[in-house]
Amino acid sequence: MPRLAKRTEHVMPFYVVELFKQANALKAQGQDIISLGIGEPDFTAPPQVVETLHRAAQAGLSGYTPPAGISPLRAAIADYYAQQFGATLDPARVIVTSGASGALLLASMALINPGDEILMPDPSYPANQNFITSAGGVPRLIPCSAEHRFQLSADTVREHWGPATRGVLIASPSNPTGITIAREDLRALIAEVRQRGGFVIMDEIYLGLYYGDRPQSALTLDDNVVIINSFSKYFHMTGWRLGWLIVPPHMVQAIETLAASLAICAPSLAQHAALTCFEPEVMHIYENRRLSFKQRRDYLLPEFERLGLHIPVAPDGAFYIYADIRAHSQDSDDFSRRLLTQAGVAAVPGRDFGPAHAPYTMRFSYATGLDRLQEAIDRIERFLA
Ligand SMILES: Cc1ncc(COP(=O)(O)O)c(C=O)c1O
Repeated sequence: MPRLAKRTEHVMPFYVVELFKQANALKAQGQDIISLGIGEPDFTAPPQVVETLHRAAQAGLSGYTPPAGISPLRAAIADYYAQQFGATLDPARVIVTSGASGALLLASMALINPGDEILMPDPSYPANQNFITSAGGVPRLIPCSAEHRFQLSADTVREHWGPATRGVLIASPSNPTGITIAREDLRALIAEVRQRGGFVIMDEIYLGLYYGDRPQSALTLDDNVVIINSFSKYFHMTGWRLGWLIVPPHMVQAIETLAASLAICAPSLAQHAALTCFEPEVMHIYENRRLSFKQRRDYLLPEFERLGLHIPVAPDGAFYIYADIRAHSQDSDDFSRRLLTQAGVAAVPGRDFGPAHAPYTMRFSYATGLDRLQEAIDRIERFLA
């Protein structure tokens, strides 16, 4: 039997997969399950984008592209960052990838040496640890409190930076909290890392789904931050497997070389179709959908508090609510199991996002229509009663 590599012992599983297996089994038995579990928009790509995909396929534009992506798409992404997030950049710094996941893999391979420690907040997106481990690095989860918006801060970096620490991996707005890092806190955090010669990888996959005034990229604070983004969330194209990296000029060549070997290129038809995402009428559709997400959030926040599912920090982005369930349970695994089997509502227990707050937190995703969310609230209310 082939021997498995040591790193497979360190790869973190997604515990929620088990829960979803159970949810699917209940559905197969005819039970109506409302999923507040999955981190995937309920919207799909707008029809204009799908049409461009058809045309690209018919025109035979399905061969390999350059490893960094087709030039018009790199230019369109650079323009999008300038228009939406206030960051002016040379399109040559944009590398098109297979989703944010492809971007995280390339960034990890390019920046992390075996044994390097990378600081990340607890809670955070579970796959991040696995990208670091795959590159031979050591993820260090730092417990982050509600007081710090569940994010790393300059203070936590100062406190936890050790001789092997090389950088930080953060997200704003974050998964599972939907909470951003306040701009001045981010400025201080970046300065603290840079002062130590470290790198900042900033995952901006949810930046388009921000509900405050104009969001700004971390690039507007420091041009050397390595940016991760994607067509999965704001553009509602999860399975199209398209995302991007923005890197400082000195990293471009190394990333292109890695991309040429590890991926050859991102899906070519998806790249051609994605150009249409940036047309004004399509951006208008996305803006309306963003407002729908905001409306759902605004409905849910008071309802959760009313039901004693406390939200320590109001989310200002993404489509997640990170709730403190202590008024009802100290065991989020058990609570989520009972919520599923007794109320038919699927949501993710805290342990998928790190141990610090696991027993008493849960992530609820509102990537589901308002009518279903209302039904979910009714069911949760009856369940808690
Ligand atoms: C914070 C974060 N980063 C990256 C990803 C991966 O996204 P993609 O589908 O673009 O690979 C996700 C997906 O849920 C996410 O929540």
